[in-house]
Amino acid sequence: MVKIPEKLEKYEVYVPGKPLEEAKRELGIEKIIKLASNENPFGVSPKAVEVIRKEAENVYLYPDTGSYYLTKKLSSLYGIPEENILVGPGSAVIIKWITFALIDDGEEGITAEKTFLIYRIAMQETRGKFVTVPMKDYGYDLASILDKLSEKTKIIFIANPNNPTGTLIKRREFDNFMKRVPDHVLVLYDEAYREYIDDPEHPRGEDYLKDYPNFVLLRTFSKAYGLAGMRIGYAIFADAKIKEAVWKVVPPFPVTFLAQKAAIAALGDSEFVEMSFRENLKGKEYLYRELDRLGLKFVRSQANFIFVIPPTDAREIVRRLFKKGVIVRHTRAFGAPEGFRVTVGSMEQNKDFIKALEDVLEEISRDSH
Ligand SMILES: Cc1ncc(COP(=O)(O)O)c(C=O)c1O
Repeated sequence: MVKIPEKLEKYEVYVPGKPLEEAKRELGIEKIIKLASNENPFGVSPKAVEVIRKEAENVYLYPDTGSYYLTKKLSSLYGIPEENILVGPGSAVIIKWITFALIDDGEEGITAEKTFLIYRIAMQETRGKFVTVPMKDYGYDLASILDKLSEKTKIIFIANPNNPTGTLIKRREFDNFMKRVPDHVLVLYDEAYREYIDDPEHPRGEDYLKDYPNFVLLRTFSKAYGLAGMRIGYAIFADAKIKEAVWKVVPPFPVTFLAQKAAIAALGDSEFVEMSFRENLKGKEYLYRELDRLGLKFVRSQANFIFVIPPTDAREIVRRLFKKGVIVRHTRAFGAPEGFRVTVGSMEQNKDFIKALEDVLEEISRDSH
């Protein structure tokens, strides 16, 4: 028998939600509202759909390995040389590549306690050590991260806004932090939810590329651009030598032809992104009001989801919501078992979620008496 390496027994794997069709079958209901993965409730940029249709017949060809045209477009958009840009099949995969390529035996990757679980999962594929620090008011505590840095630290993972709490590190604080990070430590700055930020004091990743060679910016097309199912995102390395090193672990043809084409079209569709931003803001305001009315604690968010901290078992609430056809994410795997994360949906979905949540809270209160 082929021996499975022992190290894999301890591996934590990313557990996504059930496919929608499967959930419908299991529940025996037609209408399911999926607010569990921070997808765009308004679908795909229409310009991207048009290109996908048009280019479908060309998929018999291998795609360009370096995503030539998209890289060129990003290069002119940011004013950064093409050699600093790496396009991959989603930013989660790029995070894994960077971590796998750079973490040597015994080196450390550090982040906050309640954050995107891929950082932890990426670290376990290395022979390095994963370090976390507690959070302050559900936000990154950058001073604590600085305190924990050592000769062994190689990567600091930062999601801004943070997933699952939606909190934002402000520019001044981030500037001070960057000045203090030693240059042997790579700051991996993950802006997956950048398009949803409305705080003018947010630190824009591209502003740090010039001064800090130890900086890499990650962005994705999965959220506001509506291309989660296409799998495409990118990294911009301040130092092209680090990109070159990471590129060595990238398999051939990592990004499909259609994804590359769709991303280029989506980049040119600012109307769709702006609409998504505006509707998301309205949705958040509605959800804040309703969560307040229900007496639930939550964290105000700079992203397209809200972290809710109920007074009773969060997992039970998530389970009962599922039975009513509303899927939200319990955040235990994100280090936050006390809460759940709900994606801001369309207004109709938000209303259905609130209605289901209200029913669930009533049921739980009835059952406990
Ligand atoms: C903080 C953060 N980074 C990265 C990603 C990954 O996005 P993708 O792999 O779809 O580009 C997500 C997705 O949920 C995220 O929340």
